[in-house]
Amino acid sequence: MKLLSQPQILLFSIAILLFITSSSSSLTPSPSPSPSPSSSSSPSSSRSPLLSPSSLPSPSLAPASPPQSSSSPSSSSSSSSSPSSSSPPPSSSISRHLNQTNLNYIKTSCNLTLYKTLCYISLSPYASKIISNPQKLAIIALNLTLTSAKSASKFIKNVSHGGGLTGLEAVAVADCVEEIGDSVISLQDSIRELDSINHKDSRKFEMVMSDVQTWVSAALTDDDTCMDGFRRIKTVVKDLVRQHVVKVARLTSNALALINMYASTQENLS
Ligand SMILES: *[C@@H]1O[C@H](CO)[C@@H](O)[C@H](O)[C@H]1NC(C)=O
Ligand SMILES: *[C@@H]1O[C@H](CO)[C@@H](O)[C@H](O)[C@H]1NC(C)=O
Ligand SMILES: *[C@@H]1O[C@H](CO)[C@@H](O)[C@H](O)[C@H]1NC(C)=O
Ligand SMILES: *[C@@H]1O[C@H](CO)[C@@H](O)[C@H](O)[C@H]1NC(C)=O
Repeated sequence: MKLLSQPQILLFSIAILLFITSSSSSLTPSPSPSPSPSSSSSPSSSRSPLLSPSSLPSPSLAPASPPQSSSSPSSSSSSSSSPSSSSPPPSSSISRHLNQTNLNYIKTSCNLTLYKTLCYISLSPYASKIISNPQKLAIIALNLTLTSAKSASKFIKNVSHGGGLTGLEAVAVADCVEEIGDSVISLQDSIRELDSINHKDSRKFEMVMSDVQTWVSAALTDDDTCMDGFRRIKTVVKDLVRQHVVKVARLTSNALALINMYASTQENLS
């Protein structure tokens, strides 16, 4: 049984350490590469001193510094106050390597929107799904808007069931529930249509995009109408509803800008 020489063990260990430190941005340890044939006869005796978990430098297993924090200046005013209305990003996309090319695509696209920071913060967790596909970008932006609208609707309904509203408040809240409900339907229709787009038929593409632009604009109008109903109300109910609806309206506005971008990209291609 031939063991590796000391220098070989050292080189091998350094290589494995480098592999682990460079590949583990998640907390789950990467599987070690299979040892070379010559060392397979007694792997444990030669590798254990350097590769036992306790001897690994622990900082290397911690996540690296937060990616791209410079690119997301705080505009937390729009999102911090409504924790229930934003769904957490899927954990799989967090542990995946962040691809700068994909993030840059989102940043450039979000540059066309009105609420750029909200756009980037909400979409960057989906960078690996979006890649550089404007259709996916638009669908995911709409889907995030839909989730937010559903959550706002739930919240506003809950407010009305809580009781204790004045007559004027009760009317405004009821109208708002209806308008956000309409908005949810418009968003669902838009997602379904966008998902069905077949790029081979450019005439159909233009029709679908025109419909979607109309529906998403209508959703934005619904959000505004909801808020209009509260114009003469000055209570805590208004503030609570406002926080939720403003977020929905901003996400809707951003999604519409991304849809318009998608529509114009295709026009340029044809
Ligand atoms: C980033 O993703 C794109 C598209 O999936 C791919 O072509 C590119 O090679 C990736 N870049 C890196 C550094 O992984
Ligand atoms: C965003 O757009 C402005 C012009 O509207 C441009 O000056 C800036 O470089 C753009 N930034 C990015 C990240 O694309
Ligand atoms: C929209 O998001 C939900 C989760 O919030 C997900 O289950 C669904 O598959 C998404 N739909 C599309 C078309 O991306
Ligand atoms: C609904 O309102 C009650 C109090 O009226 C509150 O405890 C509960 O968390 C609310 N649920 C949602 C989803 O907002």
